[in-house]
Amino acid sequence: MLNIAVFVSGRGSNLRAIHEAVERGALEAKIVLVLSSRDDAPAIAWASARGIPTSSLQGVSDNAVIPTVLRHLEETGTDFIALAGYMKRIPEEIVRRYRGRMVNVHPALLPSFGGKGMYGERVHEAVIAAGVRVSGATVHIVDEEYDRGPIVLQRCVPVDYADTPASLAARVLTVEHELLPEALQLFSRGMIEIRDGRVHSTK
Ligand code: GRF
Repeated sequence: MLNIAVFVSGRGSNLRAIHEAVERGALEAKIVLVLSSRDDAPAIAWASARGIPTSSLQGVSDNAVIPTVLRHLEETGTDFIALAGYMKRIPEEIVRRYRGRMVNVHPALLPSFGGKGMYGERVHEAVIAAGVRVSGATVHIVDEEYDRGPIVLQRCVPVDYADTPASLAARVLTVEHELLPEALQLFSRGMIEIRDGRVHSTK
C-alpha cells in the first residue's frame, strides 16, 4: 500500500488514470496529495472536487520551494511520488530523499526522444520527423538527469504514416494511462529492485 503524491502541471489525465486504478482495486495505493506547479491546472480543480488534498507552488519563491514541498510531503505521509505531466525541475534534495520512490511518465520510448526541452508536442514532432515506425510510453525512476533514470515499464504504439503530433500524442496517452498505474502497483507490491542502475522486477 503506497501513499502517493501526484505532481501535475496541467490537464491531469494520468492523475485520473491513477485514481481509477485505485478505485477499481488494480492499484493498492491512496492518493494523499496532488501538487501542482500552477494554480490553474485543471488537475487541481479535479482533485479538490474529490476531496483529495491539493497544493500549488505558484508564487512560492525559489528558495521556499524545497521546504514547502517537503512540508507537504511529510504532512500527508507521502511515501511515493508520481510525476504525471509535471513541467518543473525536481530539486536535487527531493530527488535524494525520494530516491527509488519517484517515477515519471514520458510519452516516448526512452532513452530516445527525451531530455531537457523534450516535452508535450515536441516529443511527437521529433518522433515523426525521425521517421521511426514505433513510439510508446515509458515509466522511469527519477534521478538527477532529465528522463535518464532506470526504466520500469515501456509499451509500444505504432507510428502511422498519416500521424500528426496530436494523433500520435492521443495514441500514446492511452498507453500512458495503463502503464503508470501498472508501474505504481509493482512498487506497491514491493516487486521492484534496482541493481547496477537497472530495474529488476521480482515478479
Ligand atoms: C503526458 O503525455 C505525460 O507523458 C507528459 O505530460 C503529459 C501529461 O498529461 N509528461 P496529463 O496532464 O496527465 O493529461
